[in-house]
Amino acid sequence: MNIEDPTPLLGNLSPREFMRDIWQRQPLLIRQAIPGFEPTITLADIKALARREEAESRLIWHNDKGWKMKAGPFPRLSLPRQAAWTLLVQSVDLHDDAIAALMRRFRFIADARLDDAMISIANDGGGVGPHYDSYDVFLLQAHGQRRWRISTQTDLSLEPGLPLKILSNFEAEHEYLLNPGDMLYLPPHICHDGVAVGDCMTISIGFRVPSQAALARGMLEAAADQISAQYWGEPGLYGEPALPGADLSSLYTDAGTDATATPAALPEQLVQATLETLKKVRLDQAVAARFLGQWLSNRPENAWFEPMQNPPTLAQTLPETGRLVLDRCTRLMYFEDQLFINGELAPVINDSVLRQLADERELTYHAMQSLGMAARTMLDEWLDEGWLHYEA
Ligand code: SIN
Ligand code: CO
Repeated sequence: MNIEDPTPLLGNLSPREFMRDIWQRQPLLIRQAIPGFEPTITLADIKALARREEAESRLIWHNDKGWKMKAGPFPRLSLPRQAAWTLLVQSVDLHDDAIAALMRRFRFIADARLDDAMISIANDGGGVGPHYDSYDVFLLQAHGQRRWRISTQTDLSLEPGLPLKILSNFEAEHEYLLNPGDMLYLPPHICHDGVAVGDCMTISIGFRVPSQAALARGMLEAAADQISAQYWGEPGLYGEPALPGADLSSLYTDAGTDATATPAALPEQLVQATLETLKKVRLDQAVAARFLGQWLSNRPENAWFEPMQNPPTLAQTLPETGRLVLDRCTRLMYFEDQLFINGELAPVINDSVLRQLADERELTYHAMQSLGMAARTMLDEWLDEGWLHYEA
């Protein structure tokens, strides 16, 4: 996708225009974002996923007795008869190639922000109630109809004592009936309520929004990791450390300190020496990237990798046809010369071919010819793990 080209996916805005004017700023209704959309996944597939242990699912239903929620898995799924219900399965992109490919149509936004594709199915009247989320979301109607009501209200107070977040005072400002292929984009904290009109399926492509507190805590933890390490992280394939640790091996010294008449007071010199030690701990871009890369590429709990039988050994011979393709569950990100895969720092220096693999999620046999030996050895390990596949 060219980020300058208008696309139906974004209501004929280009990705660049969408990011400039809409993203994180205002809701957008997009009629026929995917014209004639027919998902390959069925309502029965979603029920089947909800039975499985490796999928995270929830069942929510309500009637005149109020709201109820139950967490999956549901080995013997029975849907409430006398209630409006909705069944939600998280991270369907980890289990289904077509949904993973659909989610990747949104890669005009950085992978670091992309979270998952959740799918909900519901009977007539089913929904999760009026609420707000703390993430950006594209709500794509996949099957049947859903009536969305949305509001920019600032009253975010919630009904007390319920198993799910329901707004106490929801007052809709807009109402839209979505048909298959229609999509609604919502930034965080826009209040919304989606109610199924007949049997319905909705795909939510969600984007994680880290809190500033999580960023600061992660950065400080990453900085602390340098303290006891000579080399911070694994040395690379050629033994080169990506980042040196902080050398804090020597002892505090206070030779020459005067006798004290106020023994309970903390010595000023000790306080200053403590501050001085921090000058040896790196708090820079490379450390921030190390923390973010490992955190955001961390493999989701439900990721399941299946290595192919007899993968090629790239370190021996490079194939002269075919391509290397990242597994749908693999998360590969980079910053400058650091490369991160499924929560780990890769043991090679990032280069233009590896960047291409990360951005395009595949490498043709032609591009493979430029891989260095360290990268070929590393990719052999990824093939063995099932993080990467070879397609002839
Ligand atoms: C749903 O798909 O029913 C719920 C999605 C949402 O409101 O966030
Ligand atoms: Co929501």
